[in-house]
Amino acid sequence: MVVKLEVINELDSLYNRAVELITEQLNNGANTFGLATGGTMLPLYEKIRQSDLDFSNCISVNLDEYVGIAQSHPESYRSFMNTQLFDAKPFKQSYLPNGEANNVQEEAQNYENLLKSLTLDFQLLGIGENGHIGFNEPGTAFTSETHVVKLTESTRKANARFFDSIDEVPKEAITMGIASILRAKCIVLIAVGEKKRAALEALVYGEVTEDIPVTCLQQHPNVIVLTDLDLSK
Ligand code: GLP
Repeated sequence: MVVKLEVINELDSLYNRAVELITEQLNNGANTFGLATGGTMLPLYEKIRQSDLDFSNCISVNLDEYVGIAQSHPESYRSFMNTQLFDAKPFKQSYLPNGEANNVQEEAQNYENLLKSLTLDFQLLGIGENGHIGFNEPGTAFTSETHVVKLTESTRKANARFFDSIDEVPKEAITMGIASILRAKCIVLIAVGEKKRAALEALVYGEVTEDIPVTCLQQHPNVIVLTDLDLSK
């Protein structure tokens, strides 16, 4: 087991630790950052916005984007990233998959080609209640690269809180694959709140299985997990 688990009960301290890890990366010369969306990342991005960190020489690549809503939609991941981070902390170049592309399969392939042309020094991850990472839903092959996915009802329900109704939650997305994510040199996963307990337990204690995508991280040499969950309880 190579996953390094850091249990930090107090959320402000947990997010300070995440900022510290990103700062260390920058100080060590990292310049390509894989970024994530989701409610879990809001306090982190808020702290980064308030920091003096400078990403103007860095590249960011996001994990995923919805298909079927405009990039200008307030809940697109492009809008999320602009509002939460990029408007305040611009990168030299910021990439997200284009969920508005006419041919989303081709867009997924192009995004994978882009990823392969870069070396991800760092990848930030959240976790879905069903153990998904990015939008890699249970059953996704660990060999998968960037692809178009049909979102599960569980994921659509979990994300419905950001939309006026569940009917408005997109049914598809483009996501980095498991193999694409595992190429990052260092991965930091943040799991906060009771809803994430089962997925986190699977990551820390479970068998490696494609049925719970996050367990793929057990096969990566440099993963740090920040959580407020005490798994002994
Ligand atoms: C979405 C994103 C994931 C994220 C997950 C958890 O499905 N594609 O990258 O980890 O939501 O989101 P939250 O942090 O809001 O619980």
